[in-house]
Amino acid sequence: MTIVSPSMLSANFLDLQSDIDMINNSEADWLHMDVMDGVFVPNISFGFPVLEAVAKACKKPLDVHFMIVNPERYIAQTAKTGAMMMNVHYEACTHLSRTVQEIHEAGMKAGVTLNPSTPVSCLEDIICDVDMVLLMSVNPGFGGQKFIENTIEKTKRLRKLITEHGSNALIQVDGGVQGKTAPRLVAAGCDVLVSGSYVFGAPNPQEIIRQLKDL
Ligand code: DX5
Ligand code: ZN
Repeated sequence: MTIVSPSMLSANFLDLQSDIDMINNSEADWLHMDVMDGVFVPNISFGFPVLEAVAKACKKPLDVHFMIVNPERYIAQTAKTGAMMMNVHYEACTHLSRTVQEIHEAGMKAGVTLNPSTPVSCLEDIICDVDMVLLMSVNPGFGGQKFIENTIEKTKRLRKLITEHGSNALIQVDGGVQGKTAPRLVAAGCDVLVSGSYVFGAPNPQEIIRQLKDL
């Protein structure tokens, strides 16, 4: 069974309660939350007031994707919300090893995210210390973008790297995940599918979540 983490970025921000109820009553494993700062990415989404409110209402573990500079400044605050996973960008962390260690010390799982142009080989020396690698299959910042094809081969290369190092890291893919790309990603070795517009834009989101889980 594939792990499914719907992205709240495509939810109805005027009625988050309804969308969180939908997630709570669905087969979704986690809820993916995209925090953007307008500096690391050319968009601003939401921050801690929203994260804290959602954390209280959502029964699924939160998988928080920080598209911000200096994410290490927010480790304690993120842990306080009860988030299960903190994903930080490789490109935003000068001292990634220290940041991963601090995320663990704060009681959360640590994910490292790669932009589409960042090769998986840069993870060689940290792959055994992380719980998940998040491969961006679009340039981060916006929902509803076109899937970058190279991610299929990149997922295979990451799977090989994880196996060679005996790492337990999960592979998560985020961006343009829908009916056509999802099965190919799972076949390539992806464990966790993030999906925003495909899930929340569907007439029956719970059915879409169920279909993704069955892959
Ligand atoms: C983009 C975010 C994604 C976004 C995906 O920067 O990281 O999580 O919500 O949206 P879709 O699934 O619509 O591509
Ligand atoms: Zn994301």
